[in-house]
Amino acid sequence: MAKQIITAAALLSMLSVPVLAETHTQSPDELVTEARAKVQAFGGSLKQALQAAIKEGGLTNGIGVCNTVAPEIAADNSSEEWTISRTSLKVRNPDNAPTDWQKLQLLAMDKQPVEVWQVSEASGQPAFRYMSAIPTQKLCLGCHGKNIDPDVKAKLAELYPNDQATGFSEGDLRGAFVVTYQPATK
Ligand code: HEC
Repeated sequence: MAKQIITAAALLSMLSVPVLAETHTQSPDELVTEARAKVQAFGGSLKQALQAAIKEGGLTNGIGVCNTVAPEIAADNSSEEWTISRTSLKVRNPDNAPTDWQKLQLLAMDKQPVEVWQVSEASGQPAFRYMSAIPTQKLCLGCHGKNIDPDVKAKLAELYPNDQATGFSEGDLRGAFVVTYQPATK
């Protein structure tokens, strides 16, 4: 006869601890699957918008997409419980600067691009956080590479006086997607 397995969530609901049980309703596997889906959606939409803008009006036009459309697409893919953003060891926008934890993951990813996640019950930290590496592709070099067109350079300098995000080569770690999950407290 099959042995009955009682999950932590089921056990907690039996004990009727609703608030605590809620933080356990999703297993790390489900959270990782959801985080990957968010990265796919955000990354896919952003790349599509960027390519369309460059095709229409060149790289200087594409800057507008990264500058204004990227945060909008990130917001579209975020909710009360989930957030998605991008970070890097060399940021263009200081708002994207990594936290200490993110910086450690980026330093490790710089050697081997990977995805990482952590489940935490410590207060002041998201219950779940996930990062996946963003490699530099050919498409990125016009705005993040070594030989940037003077017009593009001028527009970037105007918008981002402290831009650190140039000088990359194809295959370099450009940064990472960051996804966090924090169940709503009732
Ligand atoms: C048309 C110019 C342009 C192209 C092409 C471009 N980017 Fe960017 N990128 C930007 C701008 C502008 C920002 C700053 C966005 C902001 O203000 O949040 C940025 C920001 C980023 C960030 C967030 C971290 C930071 O530096 O602030 C990452 C990661 C990033 N880009 C990766 C890429 C990747 C990967 C590619 C290629 C697939 C790419 N970019 C192509 C202009 C570009």
